[in-house]
Amino acid sequence: MAPKQTTVKPWSGRFGADTDSFVEDFTESVSFDRRLWRHDIEGSIAHARMLARVGVLTESECAQITSGLEAIRGEIEAGRFEWRQELEDVHMNIEAALSARIGEVGKKLHTARSRNDQVATDLRLYLRGEIDEIRASLRGLITVLADLAEREADTIMPGFTHMQVAQPVTFGHHMLAWCAMLQRDLQRLGDCRRRVDVLPLGAAALAGTGFPIDRQFTAQLLGFSKVAENSLDAVSDRDFAVEFCAAGALILMHLSRFSEELVLWMSTQFGFIDLDDTWCTGSSIMPQKKNPDVPELVRGKTGRVYGDLLALLTIMKGQPLAYNRDNQEDKPALFDCVDTVRACLRAYGGLVPGIRVRREVLRAAAARGLGTATDLADYLVDKGVPFRTAHAVVGRIVQFATEQGRDLAELKIEELRRFSEHIAADVFARLELQGSVNARDHIGGTAPAQVRQAVQRLRAWLDAHLNQE
Ligand code: ARG
Repeated sequence: MAPKQTTVKPWSGRFGADTDSFVEDFTESVSFDRRLWRHDIEGSIAHARMLARVGVLTESECAQITSGLEAIRGEIEAGRFEWRQELEDVHMNIEAALSARIGEVGKKLHTARSRNDQVATDLRLYLRGEIDEIRASLRGLITVLADLAEREADTIMPGFTHMQVAQPVTFGHHMLAWCAMLQRDLQRLGDCRRRVDVLPLGAAALAGTGFPIDRQFTAQLLGFSKVAENSLDAVSDRDFAVEFCAAGALILMHLSRFSEELVLWMSTQFGFIDLDDTWCTGSSIMPQKKNPDVPELVRGKTGRVYGDLLALLTIMKGQPLAYNRDNQEDKPALFDCVDTVRACLRAYGGLVPGIRVRREVLRAAAARGLGTATDLADYLVDKGVPFRTAHAVVGRIVQFATEQGRDLAELKIEELRRFSEHIAADVFARLELQGSVNARDHIGGTAPAQVRQAVQRLRAWLDAHLNQE
């Protein structure tokens, strides 16, 4: 192995000996925080411009720093930048490269700033951008689910509770339940974004700085809507990252629940749906297999995101004010959460349009399992029977039908009337699947007409939501 290049560390002044090489490996973060380079450069340019505005830097110094940083940006973009582990992190790598490029002036950039407020700023800039992308893909997923809901507004399927057939519902209605979860996720991320969108820069190491900084100006340059109120909190706060991971954990929890349903529905036993061939994989031994690996992996990856959330919460719980190096460990967890959420949303955005619904299978499944028993009880209520009494009567009819191995709609009128004189021939309309779903014709109900209206409201909500930002 080639010996390490010795580089003078920016903080080496008070040290009498070089860092142990294990410690260098152990403490470095550039291997993972280099992904913040764009934000680090953007933050540094804004900082330099602010320093020039308040007269700490001259305009010419600011111009040299800015063009130096832009040149470094070009180098990194082109893959020509040499990252050095001995310079610890993305911040010191870029700063050292700046001084190497423009000389003494480069060493002025770190005036009135610390890596503590710098890293918090970079992280917030990064996360704000990621949240915007994630929200766009959530919107995309809701849109394709709403399209599917509309297409299948009339498709009847069994609705389940306890995984037992409960009552018939429409497939469109079921899709809209998924949309409702994702709508909350979209709102949650919007709420989280408001707290991400705060500028820590200016807090310096922890106490602020004696230089006459203008934090509002820096905030304006970086598009932050607020500046952090308290310098100690500004450098040590990672609530925003925890909140993001919590929102991410909920997104994955939702996607995991969809996954569970898709996997079940695609099995031979259910046979409710099929997924596009291009979104499934096969088995190396069993030639017949077509496996729903994408939803399974999404379900599996949910564990990672929960882990990321727990890692962040635990990293934070023991920390006294203000900055501690523990905080460096926030990045692997946060990055993993971002990457996983993004990949899983992308997976679902691609998967959903290829869901093929087996309408006949769904209808036949809805017809089994006595799913219209509640409708029969409701029918008796309409005829003046108290609901509890009606429930008991229908319970006896269900017992009879089960013994006979017949569905409710297959019983004869004379047979039904043996249990209640209130039953007449008009009961059959209620025992049919169509009548059952059509009857649930109110906001939030499963009737096809309601599903269509709900899809319209959802689309209007998405548009309004987009315009609010
Ligand atoms: N790499 C560090 C991190 O990720 C940056 C801040 C380091 N500050 C310090 N004083 N050592 O948190």
